[in-house]
Amino acid sequence: MKILGIETSCDETAAAIVENGRKILSCEMISQASKHQVFGGVLPEVASRCHIENIVGVVNNALCSCSYSLKNIDAIAVTHTPGLIGSLLIGLNFAKGLSFAENLPLITVHHLRSHIAANYLENKSLKPPFLALIVSGGNNHIIEVTSYTNFKIIGKTRDDAAGEAFDKVARSLGLSYPGGVNLDKISKSGDRFRFEFPRPEIKNAPYDYSFSGLKTYFFNKLSALKQKSNDIPVEDLAASFCYSVADYLTTKFLKAAHDLKHKILVVSGGVSANSYLRAKLKKECEKLNYKFYAPSLKLCTDNAAMVAAQGYYEFLSGNRASLDTNAFSNSSIERG
Ligand code: KG4
Repeated sequence: MKILGIETSCDETAAAIVENGRKILSCEMISQASKHQVFGGVLPEVASRCHIENIVGVVNNALCSCSYSLKNIDAIAVTHTPGLIGSLLIGLNFAKGLSFAENLPLITVHHLRSHIAANYLENKSLKPPFLALIVSGGNNHIIEVTSYTNFKIIGKTRDDAAGEAFDKVARSLGLSYPGGVNLDKISKSGDRFRFEFPRPEIKNAPYDYSFSGLKTYFFNKLSALKQKSNDIPVEDLAASFCYSVADYLTTKFLKAAHDLKHKILVVSGGVSANSYLRAKLKKECEKLNYKFYAPSLKLCTDNAAMVAAQGYYEFLSGNRASLDTNAFSNSSIERG
């Protein structure tokens, strides 16, 4: 079964064709990063306008790059939640129009479910049940994946997500948007042990995270350093911050795995591209003899192949959206 996936939840306009949820036939994306750079973050109105300009071209590219037409497609899967509402509506309405015109089934896909599904595309043997850590710009969850379409939230952030913290910290150091990846890059030449950052604990919620205090602690440290000297150790700050966040994310994730007796661990979402987090998880999982999966870098951040992959399993479980279905800026992964 060949599914056309469409993703427009934030600032990437993406389309892909995936066979039986596992094999990528095409995967196209137009990034808007250069349009948002001047604002230091994603400007929702600009994102919606760019999606309108790009959506037809990107779907065409996805079809052309594998020499397909819509006649070769069996269903359309589209992200409908969570995300920027204006952005989501462009993808959803485009998918609805296509589904109506071509008489193709329409499947709505939760963005976080699709981030987890990115791992199915490169690891044919990976099957639920397993424990997943999803870390992106807006979300930070530990999820028990009991089947392809059943999810239980084990832990989540009480405030910001790790990606948001990476982006704001990067901006405070004068790095351009998108900050997370640039922070990761410059941290390579820094000393990760030079500064110590806190790993906040939440009473009676051992698997929950909090990043807002960690972020503030960083800003205070930076401003104290600026008061003493103009020579700011940017690389050391970046390395120490990346190391602390990777350690914090990993420690809670491994505690949840131990307590819930999971030995298959999966990471996904934009922040799973972070070199410290990948290395730390890999090392700890090897020590404990756990199986560990992470998507390749190109599938960590938003893409449409993961939407088509999850769309396949949603289709098998009976998910069919009607033409009056809506987009939602927020909805739990458990509800879908
Ligand atoms: O999953 P994603 O593409 O979009 C959302 O659904 O949010 O994640 C984007 C987030 C951004 O905050 C970005 O800075 C972060 O992922 N990110 C990284 C890295 N690459 C992307 N954060 C740290 N290190 C990276 N290498």
